[in-house]
Amino acid sequence: MRKKIVAGNWKMNKNFEEAEDLLFDIADILKENRPEDVEILVCPPAIYLELAADIAHENGFDCGAQNMSEHESGAYTGEISAAMVASTGAKYVIIGHSERRTYFGEKDSLLALKVTQALKHNLTPIYCCGEVLAEREAEKHFEVVGEQVKNALFHLTAEEFEKVVVAYEPVWAIGTGRTASPAQAQEMHAFIRKVLSDKFGVAQADQTTILYGGSCNAANARELFANPDVDGGLIGGASLKAEDFVKIAGSF
Ligand code: 13P
Repeated sequence: MRKKIVAGNWKMNKNFEEAEDLLFDIADILKENRPEDVEILVCPPAIYLELAADIAHENGFDCGAQNMSEHESGAYTGEISAAMVASTGAKYVIIGHSERRTYFGEKDSLLALKVTQALKHNLTPIYCCGEVLAEREAEKHFEVVGEQVKNALFHLTAEEFEKVVVAYEPVWAIGTGRTASPAQAQEMHAFIRKVLSDKFGVAQADQTTILYGGSCNAANARELFANPDVDGGLIGGASLKAEDFVKIAGSF
């Protein structure tokens, strides 16, 4: 059985006190009612990672960064390395979120380096892919997502790939309230699994956790997660409210 994961991407939200409150609120709810058989993690701004790791690990959840540098260390002002992320206790890192691609010009070739760098430091990369609306309307979504997956993951050996989590986030569904239908999500997740299986083998692709992201919330998570190839979610807005977030994690 592959791992089910619900991850919260806080993006650039919350000051220190608010972040601490949200972490403790999540911990409190989990103490009362811990959904079973699902890994829960939060990805706060990097400045709160150590705090998040401490609170998370005491309370049965985990944390990750939203981004990291492809470089090992050195003169890269403002950047955060994989080693730094790992040294806070964080276990995951989101790589290639569409906002990084759009606003920071991150290309697949760079993301391939980041994936390698994350694995080198024993972080689990959550590699994001997804098409924009015009690409879906032009019926190019499979081609676009297939290329994103190949370009940033196919340089890995099967052994290296074992640790990778994939997140399908159609860009038109992110922060728009317009979620993919369960059928659209399932169709794309099955396609991604097939692309992975052609490269890394059926058994490996079968073990790969593929998350859905894009306006996933406490009201629609259950029908999305009910699909055989949807193994959880990468949650933006709804992860900023502890109750909603934990409810989503309990939606399998
Ligand atoms: P929303 O859940 O706010 O649409 O964001 C999804 C996302 O980008 C998670 O990484």
